[in-house]
Amino acid sequence: MSDNTINWYPGHMTKAVRMMKEEISLVDLIIELLDARAPLSSRNPDIDDLGKNKFRLVILNKADLANKGATEKWKAFFKEKGITVITMDARNRGNTRSVDSIVKEVCKEKIERDRKRGIKNRPIRAMVCGIPNVGKSTFINSFVGKGMAKTGNKPGVTKGKQWIRLSDSIELLDTPGILWPKIGDEQVGLRLALLGTINDNILDIPTLSIKLIDFLVKAYPGVLAERYTLSEEDDSLKILENIAINRRALKKGEEPDSEKAASYLIDDFRTGRLGNISLESPENENVNE
Ligand code: G4P
Repeated sequence: MSDNTINWYPGHMTKAVRMMKEEISLVDLIIELLDARAPLSSRNPDIDDLGKNKFRLVILNKADLANKGATEKWKAFFKEKGITVITMDARNRGNTRSVDSIVKEVCKEKIERDRKRGIKNRPIRAMVCGIPNVGKSTFINSFVGKGMAKTGNKPGVTKGKQWIRLSDSIELLDTPGILWPKIGDEQVGLRLALLGTINDNILDIPTLSIKLIDFLVKAYPGVLAERYTLSEEDDSLKILENIAINRRALKKGEEPDSEKAASYLIDDFRTGRLGNISLESPENENVNE
């Protein structure tokens, strides 16, 4: 993929970052959602700076779509950095129930500090952050559940901010902090495009699909062969044509419609129909940041 394939610029981010700074100053804990299939590419490293001196919890979301082995390695990777990390399918409310006790564990220093000062029942304030489409709203909805009351504006708190009381011990800011993806290099751009972070309209889907084919043949041999009954010995363009034939994506005269096949393939990847696939694994990345 060439650099100009992705026309992506953080135009109005200055304002967003300013707002985020303001919101972060109100919270004790940052719950950072990453996509389990590409935790590094879906991470905005600015959060480390923005969230200095805050408690942190990383959630590897969409773990239902990721490769289980890779996810375990990512968990170990974050743990080694001293960051508490859990995996999640945010669509499943049952999964979010355990977050409450994890939050208390992560913030136990604060709870203890309050206790020593004689402050009782001061809730931990938390906010959810992440790049677009990582599942922030889904997570908040599941975590909060139905019928949870918003606590409304509070004196001293910026007007318009809504806090949701989740339990005796946690209050959550009802709107997530939207982080901009940082596209440092072509690989990151490619992965974010595959995850659907970047609007499809500004992408060249056939090029993207060829990159996906190249990756799958190397990292997940057999997946394409099985799903579309084709040979992975062929070159990527031919594989795409064969996907078109298999999916009956044909133009007039029975000619394979590679463009349509490219969309099918990417959709099959994004929805998990190709199986549990991760785009990143710690041992293949330059992760010595
Ligand atoms: P955002 O607020 O961070 O932008 O993301 P949002 O919650 O809107 O979620 C984006 C899409 O990802 C939604 O799909 C949502 O259902 C899906 N999603 C969120 N969490 C998970 C998860 O843990 N596992 C899986 N498999 N999917 C998850 P959508 O409504 O179909 O939207 P779209 O995919 O058509 O954009």
